This record gives sequence, structure tokens and C-alpha cells, in this order.
Amino acid sequence: MGLVLCKADPDAGIQGDLALIGLAVMGQNLILNMDDHGYTVVAYNRTVEKVDAFLDNEAKGTKVVGAKSLKDMVSKLKKPRKVMMLVKAGTAVDSFIEQLLPLLEKGDIIIDGGNSEYQDTQRRCKELEKKGILYVGTGVSGGEEGARYGPSLMPGGHPDAWPHIKSIFQDISAKADGEPCCDWVGEDGAGHFVKMVHNGIEYGDMQLICEAYHLMRDALGMDPDSMSKVFEEWNKGELDSFLIEITEKILKFRDEDGKHLVEKIRDAAGQKGTGKWTAVAALEYGIPVTLIGESVFARCLSALKEERVNASKLLKGPDATFTENTQEYVEHIRKALYASKIVSYAQGFMLLREAAKVYKWNLNFGGIALMWRGGCIIRSVFLGNIKRAFDNNPELSNLLLDDFFRAAIESCQNSWRKVISLAVTMGIPTPAFSTALAFFDGFRSERLPANLIQAQRDYFGAHTYELLSDPGKFVHTNWTGKGGRTAATTYQA
Ligand SMILES: *[C@@H]1O[C@H](CO)[C@@H](O)[C@H](O)[C@H]1NC(C)=O
Ligand SMILES: *[C@@H]1O[C@H](CO)[C@@H](O)[C@H](O)[C@H]1NC(C)=O
Ligand SMILES: *[C@@H]1O[C@H](CO)[C@@H](O)[C@H](O)[C@H]1NC(C)=O
Repeated sequence: MGLVLCKADPDAGIQGDLALIGLAVMGQNLILNMDDHGYTVVAYNRTVEKVDAFLDNEAKGTKVVGAKSLKDMVSKLKKPRKVMMLVKAGTAVDSFIEQLLPLLEKGDIIIDGGNSEYQDTQRRCKELEKKGILYVGTGVSGGEEGARYGPSLMPGGHPDAWPHIKSIFQDISAKADGEPCCDWVGEDGAGHFVKMVHNGIEYGDMQLICEAYHLMRDALGMDPDSMSKVFEEWNKGELDSFLIEITEKILKFRDEDGKHLVEKIRDAAGQKGTGKWTAVAALEYGIPVTLIGESVFARCLSALKEERVNASKLLKGPDATFTENTQEYVEHIRKALYASKIVSYAQGFMLLREAAKVYKWNLNFGGIALMWRGGCIIRSVFLGNIKRAFDNNPELSNLLLDDFFRAAIESCQNSWRKVISLAVTMGIPTPAFSTALAFFDGFRSERLPANLIQAQRDYFGAHTYELLSDPGKFVHTNWTGKGGRTAATTYQA
């Protein structure tokens, strides 16, 4: 008997710009950010009630479109389709890729915006390239607030994807000095590698601030309010950064009872692993990223709270008191922090340079500094100086050799040494300040004592050594007048 009237699907004919899978807070905020910039986003979550809840609440009154299934989601996208995942790193990413593959066609783009390990991204990029899918792994930094109003974005992967996602990524990213904190990083896992180093540097920056605080509190005997004022001052100068700014606010924050909250917090640091990954990568590629390494270990030592409490009753330190001028030492500490921070970033960029060499990534170091300049946790004025250093000389082999940073370290050097001497004299640990100075002194040394290491290795293991006068030629010496024959000229261990 004729016509069956169907209710018109209000979503029919939707031509979405991008689909996003995973409606936890980061995902929701990125969608709302894209919506603000005029993009039509299709939202999907495995738990479909979550999609409806999002549309009825946070996304009410926006152009955001919901999807009931991955198939439904893909059908609402214009081509080439762009599907971004903000799901838990690991197997969830592989599982969604597997489910998406039959729904997509050659030239479509899958983007992983989670905290994936760069090796996983490299693998996925390679596998998907064979199937004609353009895979992108992007670092997203800035937390929930950043995702909503402008994150730092570090995309890498198949280069053919970039022209299709560039405008949306750069529109929603943070801006610094009028430029987007987002640019193409490089091939396969480059984006996630750069994000990992960003997080490692974040560990370093935080540890440096903690050491300054420790010295002010326990050597100089300052109270939280005075320290807060110091950080407020520091934030007006060359240390101007998000982490210095929040430290100022944290130090003066009072609990309901009127006491400073920070002094009530248990001194055992947590970590989620990205600092550790950076240190592992540093060991893997043989690059001395010592400050990030020390920062990870400092968190580990802090976590041994109970053992430390026990040991503190048995192991005594020096009996020294601070008799110098407090104001002067506050300025010495500022300079020690600044010089150490320069070393930390120099080390981070050394690691990036080595990874770029190993994986043949064409990294734009100035561009990376600019991506970190705004939106993310390590955002600072300082990153503008780093950008300038690489603009002046894109081939710069090490940040410490740039004129600006060379002059900065020179002006800080005496204070840096004074502060570490004070810390040693008073028994206050400053692993990050100290390792930075040790690195600086090592890096600027024409001769290190490694000649003796080579002699020892040859003595006990016949590992051979080179002579200063004849590098490249490995020889062995009959140190003892005993022992067997070694004729190796290429043997290395
Ligand atoms: C979907 O929503 C649930 C419930 O809020 C959440 O736990 C899950 O992580 C979300 N993401 C995906 C990919 O399903
Ligand atoms: C600390 O000392 C207490 C009391 O001697 C002991 O019970 C506890 O196991 C010790 N903790 C650690 C982590 O060594
Ligand atoms: C090392 O010297 C001793 C004593 O002169 C000799 O007996 C031995 O053969 C030498 N070994 C080699 C590898 O030349």
C-alpha cells in the first residue's frame, strides 16, 4: 500500500572536515577548539552514550556531529578523510586502526594524537603506507586548557598528509609572536619523538626550579612568601615562563587553615614515563642528555621517602651555616638556574639532532623551538631565543656555541659555580645544577681523562687505543711483558 515515510536524517549529506575518536576531556576540548575555528567535526566514542552526552552538554549549540559507529563516522567525512584518534596509547591505537582500515580508501589520513611511543608510530606509518593510508603521529601539549584554546602541536608522519591537515592544525594551535605553535616536524615517528623530548625537557625545567627552591628554603632560610616574590621577579626577565609563573602562585597558596599548602605536600614525586623514555633514548643513541637523566633519577630518589626518612636519622651531613648576603645569593641562584637551563636545552637538541641523523628526519630545529614557544608546559620567552639562534644559523651544531647563549653562560658562570659550591658545603643536593656544570666543563675541554680509560681497557682487555698523533689507527701495547698476542687494528669494544 504505497509509501513508507522515513523521517529525514538531519545529518544526511554532512561533509565533515575531520572525525575525532575518543571523547575524554582532551578529545572533547580539541573538537570544541576546531568548532570555534569553523570546522565541522564528527565525534565518535566506543561507548556511544558518551557521544550523546557530549552533544547534549559540552557541544550543545555547536556544529559538532555525532556518529553511532565507525562506519557512520566515516560516511560523514569529505575526502580525503581525516580521522584523528585521542585514545590510550598502545593496543587501543592498533585496534582502532584495524577497524578503520576496511572503511577507508587510499589517500585517507589517520592521525594519532595520543602519547604514543615514537617506535610504535614508526611501525604504524610503515605498515599503513603499504596500504595507501597516510599516517600521522602528532604530539599534543598544553593539557586540557591548551587543547581547548590552543595547544602546541607537533605532527610527523607521511609528508603527503601535511597539506591536507595544515590549516586545521595551525588554526587551532597556540600562537606565539603571531606565529602558530605547530609545524610539520618530519617523517614517521618524528612528531612523537619531538613530543617525548619536550616532556623530558619539562622534567629538567621542573627539577631546576625545585633545586632553586630547595636552596632558597634550606640554605638561605627563606619562607614561601618571600620565595614566591622571587619567582614573580624572575618571571619578568629571561626566565619568563609558564613553570616559573605557576611556581610563584603555588608557593604563596594557602590552605584553608592559612598555612602554605606546598609545605604540607609529601615530597615523593610521581612520573608517567616520558622523561624516562627520553633518558632511554639518550642512552640508546649515546648522547649525554645528563640533565634530563638526573631529573628522572631525582624523582626516583624522592620516591624512596621511607628509606630516606630512616637514613636521615643515621647519615649526618656537614655542619655549615649560611653567612652570606641573601639578596646576592638569590641572584646567584637565578643565574645558576638560567645557565643550567641553557645546558639542558642544548642537550635536548643534541638528542634531536642525533635521532634526525639516525632516522634521516629533516628536522627544522628553529621550527621546533617555535612549536614549544607557546601552548605547552615548557613555553617560555627563552624558546624565542633558541628560535633566533637557529634562524641565525640553521646549521648550528650546538646551542652552546651560539653567540647569544655563549654570552649568557659567560655572564652566569661565576654565580653558577658559587651556588654549587654552597650546595656542596651545606649538603644540599643539586643534581641538575651540578650535572649541567659538569657537562659544560666537559664539553669545553680539549682534553678529558679518557686517555687513561683507553690505557686501562688495553691493559686488561687488549681493547687497543689510538695515539693523539695518529687518530684512526688502533694499536696495542704489551703493558706487562706477559700475555698473549693481540694484533687487532680494528677491534673495538
Ligand atoms: C569513550 O568513553 C568512555 C567513557 O567516558 C571512556 O572511558 C573512553 O576512554 C572513551 N574513548 C573511546 C575511544 O572509546
Ligand atoms: C624504616 O624503618 C622502620 C623502623 O625501623 C622499618 O620498619 C621500615 O621497614 C624501614 N623502611 C624502609 C623502607 O627501609
Ligand atoms: C710481551 O712481552 C713478553 C716479554 O718480553 C713476551 O714474552 C711476550 O711474547 C710479549 N707479548 C706480545 C703479544 O708481544
